[in-house]
Amino acid sequence: MCGIVGCALRRRASDIIYGGLKQLEYRGYDSAGIATLSKGQISIVKKQGKVSALENCASDLDGNIGIGHTRWATHGKPSDANAHPFAAGKFAIVHNGIIENCLELKREFLSDSPFSSDTDSEVIVRLLDKYYDGNLLTTLKKVCSLLSGSYAIAVICADFEGIAAAKFKSPIIVGSGADGNFAASDAPALAGLCRDISVLEDNDFALITSDGIKIFDGDLNEVFRPVRPNLATPANLELGGCPFYMLKEIREAPYAVANTCAVFHTAEGEVKKLCKNINRIILTGCGTAYNSGLVAKRYIEQFARIPCEAEIAGEFRYKNPIVGGNTLVVAISQSGETADTVEAARLAKSANAKVIAVTNAPYSQLNSVADVVIPVAAGPEICVAATKSYAGQIAALYLLAGVLAGKDLTDDLQKISEPCKNTVENTDISAVADMCARSSGVYFLGRDIDYAVALEGSLKLKEVSYIPSEGYPAGELKHGTLALIDESAVAVVVITSERLAGKSKNAVEQVLSRKGKVAVITCINSIAEEFKDRAVIIKIPDCGEYLSPLVSSSALQLIAYETALLLNRDPDKPRNLAKSVTVE
Ligand code: G6P
Repeated sequence: MCGIVGCALRRRASDIIYGGLKQLEYRGYDSAGIATLSKGQISIVKKQGKVSALENCASDLDGNIGIGHTRWATHGKPSDANAHPFAAGKFAIVHNGIIENCLELKREFLSDSPFSSDTDSEVIVRLLDKYYDGNLLTTLKKVCSLLSGSYAIAVICADFEGIAAAKFKSPIIVGSGADGNFAASDAPALAGLCRDISVLEDNDFALITSDGIKIFDGDLNEVFRPVRPNLATPANLELGGCPFYMLKEIREAPYAVANTCAVFHTAEGEVKKLCKNINRIILTGCGTAYNSGLVAKRYIEQFARIPCEAEIAGEFRYKNPIVGGNTLVVAISQSGETADTVEAARLAKSANAKVIAVTNAPYSQLNSVADVVIPVAAGPEICVAATKSYAGQIAALYLLAGVLAGKDLTDDLQKISEPCKNTVENTDISAVADMCARSSGVYFLGRDIDYAVALEGSLKLKEVSYIPSEGYPAGELKHGTLALIDESAVAVVVITSERLAGKSKNAVEQVLSRKGKVAVITCINSIAEEFKDRAVIIKIPDCGEYLSPLVSSSALQLIAYETALLLNRDPDKPRNLAKSVTVE
């Protein structure tokens, strides 16, 4: 949530900052702003709405030094006034994070300051102005020492020909390129600008000029942070002929699975060592990542016969969980930056549990907390709603299940590539999308692993279409949710297991007899035959019970995508959401 960019260049900065912000829009799109420094003067443009709202005015900004921000509103509604950058005296700042003690800071130190916004972030610039001692770095350190919460901050100051940055719990990377030097929240902002990047650590500061980058630790000793390749390139950020990233990324799921399989050997040995003597497993994450844990719980328990729970990270961390040295906590996160997931992993470590991170972001905070990382090799995912990373997570967790069970499951995953490609490229979803777009609510039903997938199908649909939706166990329908079914409701029933098909089809009958409309997603011929005249049938390939989520979820993602298009929603940037939620 919230993206920041800063640079000190040997050329004009505003268009570079604008381009960087466009690449960070997945982090929020409530407002955007840019501040530049030219001959000791700071100029700012900022506007409510997406980054493109700045397209015409950004080019008015002179100067080779600047900072920019794209916002996901936390404190203060989306508006021009609450847009970053904020300025006071000789400073302008942009901030990603939450200043939890902003009210106390305002009361104690800033009671006479004229605040112009409702944001927590403005206290930072007011404090810089109040405590400025002529030295940008020491003043920034003093101000940061007063802040509680999380922050990635970029600052420009009329007295300094560059930018300063500070980091605590929210990410910042820095990098050098042909035009000068940069800071940003994430690698895509620097795609095509920097071949290499360094990741700042908590409590680090940086001074960035057109000549170089200096990084300092919390005591202001100059330090070195490893230089790593920037994996985001202009090529892998393109739409590849698709109208939206969501479709492109749904279609990339088979590659996410294949690539995740291909890199697993880099972690396998360490995973084996770490998992000796494990007698309990907790899978944790948020949103789609949590849902992939719900899927994995099924096959880990079946293959490894080790008790396994899936827990929402924001719940796990506050419930005084029972974990110890023989507990394995698997923290799942596409971005590796979700605050609740990172903190859940930290908590598990502090309780002596073994911690594995499953992330799609090799340099993320979660990776640095974990004992071992199982990489998801899905490539950059831009659409706010996660799709291909879900497939990659399911594959990574399947391979983990193999290690826990002492089996090599790579062959199973390799065989899935063709059926996956077939589903994402050839499934005709239009009749179901049409039904959903006209409905009052959509209920996703399934049993066992199909129920876990139903939850993700429901999340996807509500994220991008805004239609009220629930995922529900098929057998539980009659205990309450059936009261919501009438002719305006749609049930999407996932049936992939022969074992449970006879039971799941009862839910189809129950919805039909209450005049609800039904779509059945199934690989089972007899089920397709039985309902072909009374429901819309989406036939998917049979991939076996435990890998069926890799195909059934693609069909569900396509339903969400096409429904969003029918309702004229932007599937890549759903209202109110952000991809990387770095605050609680
Ligand atoms: C946000 C996004 C979801 C994502 C969740 C977890 O809510 O909108 O798409 O599933 O965060 O993100 P993570 O990066 O931890 O997987």
